[in-house]
Amino acid sequence: MSVIISPSLLSVDFLELKTEIERLNQIDDLWLHLDIMDAHFVPNLTFGEPVLNKLKTISKHKLDAHFMVTNPDLFADSFKDVGLHNFTFHWEAVTHHDRLIDKLKSMYPSVGISLNPSTPINVIPPYLLGKIDLVLLMSVNPGFGGQKFIPEIVDKVIELDQLRHAHGFNFQIQVDGGINDQNAGYLIQAGANNLVAGSYIFSAPNKDYLSRINKIR
Ligand code: DX5
Ligand code: ZN
Repeated sequence: MSVIISPSLLSVDFLELKTEIERLNQIDDLWLHLDIMDAHFVPNLTFGEPVLNKLKTISKHKLDAHFMVTNPDLFADSFKDVGLHNFTFHWEAVTHHDRLIDKLKSMYPSVGISLNPSTPINVIPPYLLGKIDLVLLMSVNPGFGGQKFIPEIVDKVIELDQLRHAHGFNFQIQVDGGINDQNAGYLIQAGANNLVAGSYIFSAPNKDYLSRINKIR
């Protein structure tokens, strides 16, 4: 599997949203990571459907939405026309995982489950791993960009990759939080094939995002 890079929009200057999306349009093979926060599941509030409805008209990249919200079921309905490629919800926020996955699979091309750093992989039964398209392992506690990478997550990636091989599943392993050129190599070696990065990419000198993306790749 080749590695997909999903720049997190949380780190852009929101006053320059359009220009930044156009800059990313000049780079190929990206996803665009959208952090949807509800100030309840996490102590922060970001953007929602009205912003994304505008954004989808100018971005050429697949929209990768990471819902850090208490009630993803509600968001599944209200975001249905936003043109999302991937809908990731947090395992910790949901009671009836199987039912939500079936609903999302009927609405979105790709469905992901996210785990907080302290949530072990074995909370997800293998039969559910067989149904989904992506597992997002958080390598910081969700809620904010610019936090420090938790190195123990590399072992979690190895464990999940082994499980993936043992069962012949082909979900993507995405990692999100504190990713830079120092840790990306370890994550890819461990089996990650989709990396989210915010502050590392968007703090590039002279807005040369491509050079930072290439360093992660
Ligand atoms: C954090 C978000 C991340 C964040 C990553 O809760 O899920 O997507 O934007 O930003 P960096 O790469 O700065 O940690
Ligand atoms: Zn995220």
